[in-house]
Amino acid sequence: MKNPNGIQTLMISAKKINDRTKAIVIINPNNPTGALYPKEVLEQIVQVAREHQLIIFSDEIYDRLVMDGEKHISIASLAPDLFCVTFSGLSKSHMIAGFRVGWMILSGNKAMAKDYIEGLNMLSNMRLCSNVPGQSIVQTALGGHQSVEDYIMPGGRIYEQREFIYKALTDIPGISAVKPKAAFYIFPKIDTKKFNIVNDEQFVLDLLREKKVLLIHGGGFNWQQPDHFRVVYLPRIEVLKKATDSMADFLNHYHQ
Ligand SMILES: Cc1ncc(COP(=O)(O)O)c(C=O)c1O
Repeated sequence: MKNPNGIQTLMISAKKINDRTKAIVIINPNNPTGALYPKEVLEQIVQVAREHQLIIFSDEIYDRLVMDGEKHISIASLAPDLFCVTFSGLSKSHMIAGFRVGWMILSGNKAMAKDYIEGLNMLSNMRLCSNVPGQSIVQTALGGHQSVEDYIMPGGRIYEQREFIYKALTDIPGISAVKPKAAFYIFPKIDTKKFNIVNDEQFVLDLLREKKVLLIHGGGFNWQQPDHFRVVYLPRIEVLKKATDSMADFLNHYHQ
């Protein structure tokens, strides 16, 4: 993986698969990068899963938060012959994370996962499920007017906040980024040579202590180099402006 935002990174390193590998997990649209996986990449993932008869687990909780007229493709639709588990819920699209409403959809070749399905049935018989009042709103939430669509169009909050954060961050010398297409995250790259950054956790802690702005270091997502961080751009533009001004100020003098 050369760049956590680029297409190369979405290519599966088939070399990592061994006889203990059971499944491939994807998060599409992605947290922390805000990337939307194109069809060709999904097809390549399916191909690898097919060759090795792997289960596909796909977290698609951000599937309604896709901008720029792009379309989200559910990987299960490309792999009817494999066993796929697709996860979603109302936490992001309907902004009710606290209600704990989510679901999983099992599709394709269920014979590949008899034991797994038996385990799921056992858990649901033990009533391990989302809360019942929460479940009763799912149909209305998914069937009615999708207010999220107003947020992701030009003029909408998420769209405009993305435009703002992308520009404000990439205007800071030493910061570059791929413009995210989905969700509400951006995963910029920081020039480690310029700031002599060797420890990304230290960098976010130094910024937090000096400017009271909290980022998540790339290492928090298992990214091995100390050269990325994640920003959640959900706050309003005035708040994002204050935070990015503080970051610019901090990076004017920061040297690790
Ligand atoms: C990839 C991904 N899946 C699922 C969730 C769902 O979270 P919750 O437990 O609030 O439904 C999140 C929230 O951050 C997420 O980033």
